Amino acid sequence: MLNRIHFLTRNSCRYKSSFAVALNAVSKLVTPQSLLNNPISLVSNEMNNLVRNIIALIGTGNPYLDRVSSYYFETEGKKVRPLLVLLLSRALSEIPMDKRQIPPYLSNDNITTSLNNSIQWLKQQPVESFTPLNIFQGLTNADIKHSRFHPLTQASLSFKNNNIESFDKENGILPRQRRLAEIVEMIHTASLLHDDVIDHADTRRGKPSGNVVFTNKMAVLAGDFLLGRATVAISRLRDPQVVEIMSSCIASLVEGEFMQLHNTDEYDPKPNTGKKSTSISKIDEAFDYYIHKSYLKTGSLIAMSLRSAAILSGVKPNVIESCYEFGKNLGLCFQLIDDMLDFTSSSKQMGKTTNVDLKLGISTAPVLFAWKEDPSLGDLIERNFELPGDVERALQLVYKYDGAKKTYELAREYRDKALKNLREALPESDSRSALEFLTNSILTRRK
Ligand code: FPP
Ligand code: MG
Repeated sequence: MLNRIHFLTRNSCRYKSSFAVALNAVSKLVTPQSLLNNPISLVSNEMNNLVRNIIALIGTGNPYLDRVSSYYFETEGKKVRPLLVLLLSRALSEIPMDKRQIPPYLSNDNITTSLNNSIQWLKQQPVESFTPLNIFQGLTNADIKHSRFHPLTQASLSFKNNNIESFDKENGILPRQRRLAEIVEMIHTASLLHDDVIDHADTRRGKPSGNVVFTNKMAVLAGDFLLGRATVAISRLRDPQVVEIMSSCIASLVEGEFMQLHNTDEYDPKPNTGKKSTSISKIDEAFDYYIHKSYLKTGSLIAMSLRSAAILSGVKPNVIESCYEFGKNLGLCFQLIDDMLDFTSSSKQMGKTTNVDLKLGISTAPVLFAWKEDPSLGDLIERNFELPGDVERALQLVYKYDGAKKTYELAREYRDKALKNLREALPESDSRSALEFLTNSILTRRK
C-alpha cells in the first residue's frame, strides 16, 4: 500500500494536479518516521550496488593493482558522499519534467540535436566509450604472450555500465546520477589513500591503512589510478560543465591539503606570517584560513558533486545554486565535526587514530577557539607544537576554554544554513526529509 502511494505520488507529481498535491499530503501522513530516519533505506538498491559497480570501473589485468585500489572499498565506510548524491537526485526528481531543460551550452551540441528532447537527454546512460575500444586495449594478448598479467580485461576495456539500468520511474534517480555517486566515492577514496600517506596514518576504517599494508608508493599509485579511472567516467557523463567542475574539485582537494601542509613543519619555508602577534585580526585571519582550507579539502567535493547532480537533472540555475550551497555548508559542518571528534572521540570509536592533528602540527577550530581566550597559545601554534609539552598544553587549553563545544556550535550554524538551502532548492518529499535527517545526524555523529 505504502509503495503504491509513493509510486503514484512521485509520478503524479509530474502533472501538478490538485489530486497529486492531495496524494502527496496523504503519503506524508502514512510514511513511517522510521523510513525517513533511515536515509539509506530510500536508496538501498543503489547503495548496495555502489561498491560492485566501482569495482567494475577499476578492474585491470593486474591482480596486485586491483588489490591495492579496491582495498578501501572492502570495508564499510560511511559513504556519505554517494548517499548525498543519490538522495539529492531522488529529491530533484520531484521537480516536474516540464520545469527542466537541456542546459543551454548543450542545446547546439551534435548529440542533443539528434535527441532533440530534454527528457530523452536527461534519461541517457553514460556512454560506454568515446574512443574505439582497441585503442584502450593497447597491447593485446597476441603482443604479450608470456606475461602472468593479461594486458587488459574486458571490464577495463569498456568500463561497462554495470547495473546502470534505464531511468527508474519509481526511484527517479537518473543513470548518470548513479554513475556520479560512484565517481564521487572513487575520488574520495583516492584522496584517503594519499591522505594516509601524508598523515603517516596506521589505521583507516578499523583496519591497517593502505600505506601500512602496501607501502607508501603503492598507496600513492593506487590513488592516482583511481583518479584516472574516475576522470574517464566523468567524461563519459557527457556534460562539459560537470567535467569542468568535477575536475576542478580534484584540484581543490590538493589545494586544501597544501594549505594544511603550509601550517606544518613539512612545508619549508613557512609562509611569511610577519611579526608575531596575537591580535584579534591575526586570529581572525587564521580562522579564515582554516575555513578556506576546510572548504577546499572537504566541502568542495561535496558541493561540486551535488551541483553536478542538479545539473544532470536539468533543473533551473537557482536550484543548482542552492544545491551547491547546501553541499558547501554541509561539507564545512562535516569537517568541523571531524576536527572536534579528533579531540573528543576515542580511536576505537573512530576506527582511526585520534588526537593526531596537534601531533601533526595542525591547528583546527578547537585550538583556534582556545587561542582567542589565551594569547599564549599563539606561540605554540606558530611552532606547530613541536617542543616537548606543547601538545599537552594545547590540549589543556582546548578543554579549559571549551574549544570542542565552540566548534560544535559553529558546525551547528553551518548545519542551519544547509537546512535552509535544502528547503529553498527542493519541494517537500520523503527524500528531502531524509536529507534533512542526514544533515542533522552529521552534527551528532560519533565517528
Ligand atoms: C582527510 O583529512 C582528507 C581529505 C578530506 C582530503 C585529502 C586530500 C588530498 C590528500 C589531496 C589529494 C587528492 C586526491 C584526489 C588524490 P583528515 O586527515 O583531516 O581526515 P582523516 O582523519 O580521516 O585522515
Ligand atoms: Mg588524515
